[in-house]
Amino acid sequence: EKAGFDHFMMKEIHEQPKAYRDTMMGRIAEDGKSVQLTELGMTADYIKAIRKIQIVACGTAYHAGLVGKTVIESLARIPVETDVASEYRYRSPIITEDTLVIVVSQSGETADTLAALREAKRNGARVLAITNVVGSSVAREADDVLITSAGPEIAVASTKAYTTQLIAFYLFGLHLAQTLGTKDQAYVAEVLAAMKNLPEQVEQVLEQKTVLRQIADNLSKHNNLFFIGRGVDYAVSQEGSLKLKEISYIHSEAYAAGELKHGTLALIEDGIPVVALITQEELYEKTLSNIKEVKARGAFVFAVVNAGAEVEAAKSVDELFAIPKTLPLLAPAVAVIPLQLISYYASLARGNDVDKPRNLAKSVTVE
Ligand code: M6R
Repeated sequence: EKAGFDHFMMKEIHEQPKAYRDTMMGRIAEDGKSVQLTELGMTADYIKAIRKIQIVACGTAYHAGLVGKTVIESLARIPVETDVASEYRYRSPIITEDTLVIVVSQSGETADTLAALREAKRNGARVLAITNVVGSSVAREADDVLITSAGPEIAVASTKAYTTQLIAFYLFGLHLAQTLGTKDQAYVAEVLAAMKNLPEQVEQVLEQKTVLRQIADNLSKHNNLFFIGRGVDYAVSQEGSLKLKEISYIHSEAYAAGELKHGTLALIEDGIPVVALITQEELYEKTLSNIKEVKARGAFVFAVVNAGAEVEAAKSVDELFAIPKTLPLLAPAVAVIPLQLISYYASLARGNDVDKPRNLAKSVTVE
């Protein structure tokens, strides 16, 4: 049942190329120039009337939503708010009929997410669910459903559900953009072509997993570490940090790289590991200067960079891992893979139960 892998998590990490393909299948026009989300009941007039989007989810699904915010805002120029579902209802969110609420849930049964969905509907919003389970509570109660075709996810630590949620956001963002005319066809075709390369790029990362095992073995000797990044790299940092905490029990914190100097830098001391994500070319120099700040205080910096940037980055960091280069917006779908593998190997190095971490359940059906 684990298909020759020692744990479900590792099996599911390796299923990602297929999960990406399955989630894209049938949703891209044959000529590769447009997205076709025929399962959505939203008319063009409805989409043109959306004034605000709220993305609501928990844990890893929330982290996918953080990337989703950037994707939708940059492709469709509609303002997006993100909320963790357990907070959403209690902040009396401003929900109107021209608000689209997107709930994201692998299981479709998370109590907080379901409660948020009901709150949104009660207030007249349309709800789109991004979920992995056909017929789940969330899928049944939402107005529209985008299924992520990740297949069953057994390990408590979510991997292929997160990455297919990213794919769903890319597709939906493009759907909005082509309906609203915020991006031209050539651009949409360019993004779709790059998306089709993602499975192959993920394979390339998986082929190098032994390198990541060595890195994880070293990180697992520490009790505290940091993840830093800017833009979508910050969103991916948050997911990397959660994954590590969840299964290795190593304390870590994800920080927006530019925010470190507003307090957290006080915690940087000799030898403390800092995992830096630098996939966004526009922000490269800025993040590099933050790396210098932590290096000057003795941190050990491990960086995830784009292929092609290794030589330059190697001058400023202690260790690095290069990922195949894609469009900046799509980088999370590749950059998270080494972080998933590091968490897996760190958990293994610490002798933990990788698939069933202490205190956690796969599906959280209490509020
Ligand atoms: O089934 P859901 O996507 O609604 O679950 C949400 C979270 O409980 C879940 O993502 C959790 O954070 C994972 N165990 C993280 O790996």
